[in-house]
Formats: sequence, structure tokens, C-alpha cells
Amino acid sequence: MTRRKIVAGNWKMNGSSESVVELVKGLKACDTVDVVVAPTFVYLPLVAQQLVDSPIKLAAQNVSEYTSGAYTGEVSLSMLQDFSVSHVILGHSERRALFAETDAQVAKKVAATIAAGLTPILCVGETLEQREAGTTLIVCNAQVDAVLNEIGVELFEKVVIAYEPVWAIGTGKSATSEQAQEVHKGIRDNIASQSVEIAEKIAILYGGSVKASNSAELFAQADIDGALVGGASLDAKEFNSIIESAK
Ligand code: G3H
Repeated sequence: MTRRKIVAGNWKMNGSSESVVELVKGLKACDTVDVVVAPTFVYLPLVAQQLVDSPIKLAAQNVSEYTSGAYTGEVSLSMLQDFSVSHVILGHSERRALFAETDAQVAKKVAATIAAGLTPILCVGETLEQREAGTTLIVCNAQVDAVLNEIGVELFEKVVIAYEPVWAIGTGKSATSEQAQEVHKGIRDNIASQSVEIAEKIAILYGGSVKASNSAELFAQADIDGALVGGASLDAKEFNSIIESAK
């Protein structure tokens, strides 16, 4: 099955009002690839303004599982919708490790995001210790299963998965295309145990030190449907080259 590729840039906690405008101006959209950018919350309105009339889609890096109320510091899905946000990155390893987000909380956020009509980008991935212990697929599939059990396989069709080995994030050390393909296939097979049809439709992105020099090889793998790019997405030229290699 041919799945449309997605190249998403996670800008994390980087940039300024000036630099994000410059960055967006430098991006080249593409007819055959879905391009998504995820600025920090406060720059969403600014970037949304820049993207009016552009096919480039806007993502948030997180969202609250609650709809409204006394949740100081949180941002709701309806607030994101006010700025035409279409995707939400959820369960990023930095949120899991540094902000103690649990599988259960991530699952609730995914459910709320789908209910609001947005697309969750669900991040999963193992630490180096877990890889060395041979538990990579057990860890990744447990993170996937927490969401599958919460929303059911039918709704899971609306999820985009990003496999991001924690040891490859921001380290310059990407997984090899074979290592990534093996995990992507393992994740797809696990979903296929519940629905072959949905497993075939789901986009599974790779994330972890993706750059222009390794993206084409990663994208050539049967189960790699694009990338969630961190550092390299802050450079328009580099990010454009990654998009180009996904065509
Ligand atoms: O969300 C993106 C990932 O954390 C990858 O970051 O490309 O800087 O390794 P990176």
C-alpha cells in the first residue's frame, strides 16, 4: 500500500517571533508530501498567520486532556483550533521523561485530540538501556497499546505514530534505516494483530537525528512513512531538502 509521506518539524522550545517568521518564509510546500510545523504554543498565532493560503499544516507540541477550567499553565484543544492547528504531538519522550507524562495520560490526550477532530502524532520509543536489554519492541508496543486500549482500533486509524528512539534524539546518532525499519514493521505488525486494514493505513514516522543526508535512505524503507524532525527543522534549507527527499 502506498501511504502519503509526512514530514513534520518539531521546533521544541526554540526561536523568537522574528526567527519563526523567517523560518516559515523559507519553507517550500510540496504537492505530494504533507508538511507540518510545530512551533511552541506562544508562536502558534504568528505562524498560523504566515501559513494562511499555504498547504503547510500547523501542529502543537502538546495539549491538555481537559476541555477548560482551573488548570493553570495548560492549553486546550479548542484554543488550538482557534489558530487552525491540525496536528498535536503527544507523548514525546521529552514530555514523558522530563514532565512525567504517563502512558495513561498520553492515551487520554490522544482520545481528546481525536474527539476534537485533530490528528495526534503519538511518539513512542525506547531508551538505550531498553534497546541493549533487547526490549525495544516490547516498550514501543506497550506505549502504542496504552492508546489502542483507550480508543479502540477503529479510531486508531486517525493516529500518526512517530517512532523516536530516545538515544537518537538530538544526539546526531540516527538509527540506521534497517534498525528503524525493523521497529516500524514490529509496530505495524502489532496493530495488524487487531486490524490488518488499519495497520496498513497508519503512517509511522521516524524521528531521531533525521537530516538531509540520511532522510532519503530512511524514507526508502517499506514501513517508514516520513519523519518527525527536531534540530534539522530549524534550518529551512535543510528541512526543505528533507521534504524533497520524501517526494
Ligand atoms: O521531535 C523530534 C525529535 O525529538 C527528534 O529530534 O531531530 O533533533 O534528533 P532531533
